[in-house]
Order: sequence, then C-alpha cells, then structure tokens
Amino acid sequence: MSEKVYPVPQDWAARALIDEAAYRDMYDRSIKDPEGFWAEQGKRLDWIKPYTKVKNVSFAPGKVSIKWFEDGTLNLSVNCIDRHLATRGDQVAFIWEGDDPKDDAKITYRQLHTEVCRMANVLKAQGVKKGDRVTIYMPMIPEATYAMLACARIGAVHSVVFGGFSPDSLAGRIEDCGSTCLITADEGLRAGKKVPLKANADAALAKSPLVTSVIVVKRTGAAVSMTEGRDLWYHEAVKNVSDNCPPEEMSAEDPLFILYTSGSTGKPKGVLHTTGGYLVYVSMTFQYVFDYQDAEIFWCTADVGWVTGHSYVVYGPLACGATSLLFEGVPNYPSVSRVWEVIDKHGVSIFYTAPTALRALMQAGDEPVKKTSRKSLRLLGSVGEPINPEAWEWYHRVVGEDRCPIVDTWWQTETGGILIAPFPGATALKPGSATRPFFGVQPKIVDAEGEVLEGACEGNLILTDSWPGQMRTVYGDHQRFMETYFSTYPNAYFTGDGCRRDDDGYYWITGRVDDVINVSGHRMGTAEVESSLVAHSKVSEAAVVGYPHSIKGQGIYAYVTLMAGEEPSEELRKELVQWVRKDIGPIASPDLIQFAPSLPKTRSGKIMRRILRKIAEDEYGSLGDTSTLSDPGVVDDLIANRQNKR
Ligand code: PRX
Repeated sequence: MSEKVYPVPQDWAARALIDEAAYRDMYDRSIKDPEGFWAEQGKRLDWIKPYTKVKNVSFAPGKVSIKWFEDGTLNLSVNCIDRHLATRGDQVAFIWEGDDPKDDAKITYRQLHTEVCRMANVLKAQGVKKGDRVTIYMPMIPEATYAMLACARIGAVHSVVFGGFSPDSLAGRIEDCGSTCLITADEGLRAGKKVPLKANADAALAKSPLVTSVIVVKRTGAAVSMTEGRDLWYHEAVKNVSDNCPPEEMSAEDPLFILYTSGSTGKPKGVLHTTGGYLVYVSMTFQYVFDYQDAEIFWCTADVGWVTGHSYVVYGPLACGATSLLFEGVPNYPSVSRVWEVIDKHGVSIFYTAPTALRALMQAGDEPVKKTSRKSLRLLGSVGEPINPEAWEWYHRVVGEDRCPIVDTWWQTETGGILIAPFPGATALKPGSATRPFFGVQPKIVDAEGEVLEGACEGNLILTDSWPGQMRTVYGDHQRFMETYFSTYPNAYFTGDGCRRDDDGYYWITGRVDDVINVSGHRMGTAEVESSLVAHSKVSEAAVVGYPHSIKGQGIYAYVTLMAGEEPSEELRKELVQWVRKDIGPIASPDLIQFAPSLPKTRSGKIMRRILRKIAEDEYGSLGDTSTLSDPGVVDDLIANRQNKR
C-alpha cells in the first residue's frame, strides 16, 4: 500500500466550503452534540411541519430502532424540485447523454416539475396511493428519475431494480415488497445493444401475478407485447393527465424507497430508507464531499438501479439545486474516449465513478484520455470498492492532470450516503485510503472478540452511533435487520468490511470480511450464486468465492461438484455460466468454474471456505491448518485442478 501523501492544493484550501479548521470544528460538534448539530443541518430542507425531535436511536440488542426528525413532515419532491423553481426554474436539472453520442437532452427544473407531476398523476390514475410499493425497471433515461420523484411526490415507496437483472431476480424483488405497479420501458440500450426490458418484465410477471398495472415507456420503439387491462403506454396515458400534482405531506420517517442488496446469506434484503433523514444526509454529503458550488456540472456514472444512482445522480444533487448528468451508455462505447469526450461536451466539473471503470480505461493507455481537453474538471471521485494505488495515481496524473483532488468515498447501500471520505479543501490525500469520517460518523475498529482497538490497527469496521441517512430496517423483516447488522458486535452497526487505521487516523478499507464479494463495484452474495448453481439438474453441490481480478476487482470463482454419473466438460462449464447469467443476471456470471469431485469439509460437514479462497487466489502454499478436514486428500485434487494458475 502506498503511503504517498498529496497535500491540499492551496487554491482548494482557500475557496472550498470546508477547510481543515471547519472540518475539525464541525466534526467535534457533530460528536459532542449530535442533537444540536443535526437540528441545524435539518434546516437545509423545507419542512411542512418543522421537527421538534431530532434523534431517537437505540442500537440495543433486540431493540434496534432508528428515527430522525420523527415529528417533522415534508415532501421530498418539493425539496428536490418545487423549492428551486423561483430561483432556478430555467436552470438545467438533468443533462441526459444517450448511449449514442448523437442523443442528448436537457431538462430544466421547471420541465422536471411538469414531468414529475404528470408521471405522478399517471400513477394516481392507476390507483397508486401513499404507502404503495412501485417497482421501477428502467434504462438510464430521464423517465427513470421522473418515476422515482413521482413516487416520492405521492408518497409511494419505490423499489428500483437494475435493468441488468433477470426476470427471476425481478420477480423475487416484486414479490418481496408486494408491488402492484411496475414502471418499465420497451427496451434499454447499452453499447448499441438492446436490453429486452418489457419481455423480461413479462416473464417476471408470469411468476408474480401481484402486479395489476404495468406502465411502459417507449425508448427504442421496438414491438413488444402488451397485456390488455394490465399494460399501458406511458406516452398515451400521459396525454390525459394534468401538469400539476399536489405533493403528499409525509412524515420524516415514512418510507422513501426499498433497494435490494446481496448479503452473506439467503435472498437479497430489501434495504429500507425513509424520507427526512435520508434527504438531509445525501444533500449534506453531496454539497461538502464534492464541494459542489452553484452552476457546476456534476457527473456520477452510476446506474439509478444502485444506491449510488439514488443518492448522487438523483436525490443529493437535486436537493442542492445542482445540474446532474445522467448517462445511458457505457464508458467504452463507441470508443474508449467516450467518458472524456462527454466531460468536454458538457463541461463537467466533478466526475464520480468506480475503480473498475478506471482500471478498464487505464488499460487502453493515456492517449484516448490525452486527446481530450478535460479543462472543465475540478474534482474526481471514486466509489464502490477499494481503489488500488496504481489506478488512483493514473486517475490523478492522467485524467486530472495533477490538478484535481480525488475523493475516495466509502459507504454502502445500508448507509444511504458517504460515511468516510476526504473533504477536498481540508484533507491531504493518500492513494487507496478513504481517509476520515464525515460529520457524525463514529468508526471504530474491533478484533474478532469485539474488543475496540486504539491507534494504528487493523480489524473489522463498526459504527457506534447513527447518522440520519442510515437504513431503518430490512423491509418486512426487522428481526433479520437486527441479526444481520447488530448481533455480531452488541450496541454497534457492523459494516461487513475489514479496515486498517494508520498513524494519522486515516481509514483504509480492506474489503468484505463476510461472504459478500465485490465484482466491478457490485455486491454479490456468494450464497446467491451457489443456490443458482445447485438449482441446475447436473449440479450436486457448489461453493463460490472471490479471487483477485485485474479489472473487476474481484472475480467469481465457483467450485462445482456434479451429480453422480455426470462428466465435467467445457460444454457444461459454458452451460453453467449461461445458467447463472440467465437466473440472476450478467453481473453474477462465474468467471472461473472448477469441477471438484468433492469439497473440503470439516467433520461436522461445514465447507471450509478459507481453503477454497486460498486456492482460488493461487495462494495454496499458505493453506494453514487442514487437520480438521474430514478428508484432507480432497485438497490435493483441488490444487492440481485449480483454474487461476499464474
Ligand atoms: O466493501 C465496501 C465496498 O462496497 C460495499 C458496499 O457495496 P454497496 O452496498 O453495493 O454500495 C456501493 C456503493 C456505495 C462496502 O461494504 N466499498 C464501497 N465503497 C468503497 C468500498 N470499499 C473500499 N473503498 C470504497 N470507497
């Protein structure tokens, strides 16, 4: 790990919203007097009924309860749109850049208001009411953001499902939260290829008949089948509704959205976020971590199907009256210069992306970057996985021409917003470190016994107090919420991440310590891939682990034991990859499959993943103690047939 330090550039220290003195002062206050600190920050929103209670939180075993601003009422869409109309009605809220560089659009705050009201009225006409769940399965087009904001306007709870997920994954998510309405598009478009969203939705709905209304946005104009009485075209429905929709008055603790995320066990969890605290938190982190100043163009490359898209494409930027760029395409289409060309085309000042994209672009060399100007860039950001110092240095030197600080932001779907990150005008940078906690965030590092470690140390990362953007529960399963996050270390939220703290108090996230792997910045539960594999008729048992991958960060390595009588073959290997792809989605495709006559188990029958991880990493020289294996001979076969030979 690099320990090179990049001091805060002088012009940044002078003009940034937060300098070192402000950071120290505000951080101290946020810890010593959280009530007072957040009472003040809550004022960044317009409330219908102001809050008198600020924080009401318990992390106590069996009694976890998290409430912020609980007696206040507000409407989120008003805070993201209406309140800006007087001063910024004609300012662009979203710049849309299509998959094809010839397609783009600009949507002002005033237009956004009209579009969101219309979509809200279409939802109402379909009988959607406050508290109902609406599933959104959309490409990255402006209508996806209208759909999210329209739900917020009428008090419906949205569940956005990433367009790359399979019909089965979509069906599971619809069923879990009991959505009766689905918003989708005919097709999506990525790198010139069509994504059959409506056909996938039809396949999903054949399995979950709960949905009574499907609203279909026309994107490519492809012929799709429409089910009479259930499906309607958005462009037709919208002709009959008014441009105005009065906002619903919501309690700060009313649910805003559900977002499914993989954990170490079982099916994905519905992470639930509520209205007031979430918006205060994403608005504040957006403003300060990105040092957002009026009229700047902010571009976060995440899809709205992930939390990064929720918090930093849509809600954070809009709450601050910013201009946010919405990108439909992929970084290397039609060429590896696309990203840099988009930055020049729209004058992007702040660019926020994932290390996996940087590593892929870095492979194409410096030339595709250098042929563009990028003079509008002021700040760069990274999110989703640890950034290796080599990629960090390239980002800083080649993309930012040594002029733009990099904010490496650590957070999770569960945290709602950024928790550990530099402030560009206050924090000296170390490549690979997310540096220091945001206001109100109290990270601690513990050992396996739960002992809190002091000073420079390494262990598991926990958070000992709440922040307003924290998830409130697992939808429909508070018990699972408490067990997953609050039972490993009593009275603390367990992040699932390992972490090192250095002598300067900087935090270095080392990666997941549970059975979650991070593939191209996307979370994947190994258990999910395993259950998909064993559902194949020729598979008797499967174990999935991560291994280092030069572009994706981690790749998916699957050990598969076949049913008696089945023979391993290249064909079957391909079939299994396709099977998982179809079952969960392309992001879950195994990179390597090793056919194993049997898996290493303890005498009580537990698979020894530690050994499987080592072999997948090609580090089998350090397997450690294998004496507890029921059949130590299994390991020799696994090593001999390992797939990741260097
Ligand atoms: O392991 C951490 C990693 O991504 C996990 C959260 O994934 P997800 O809920 O999908 O949210 C991703 C976008 C916020 C974390 O537990 N992670 C995220 N950001 C970083 C990171 N690891 C290291 N450095 C980061 N900046």
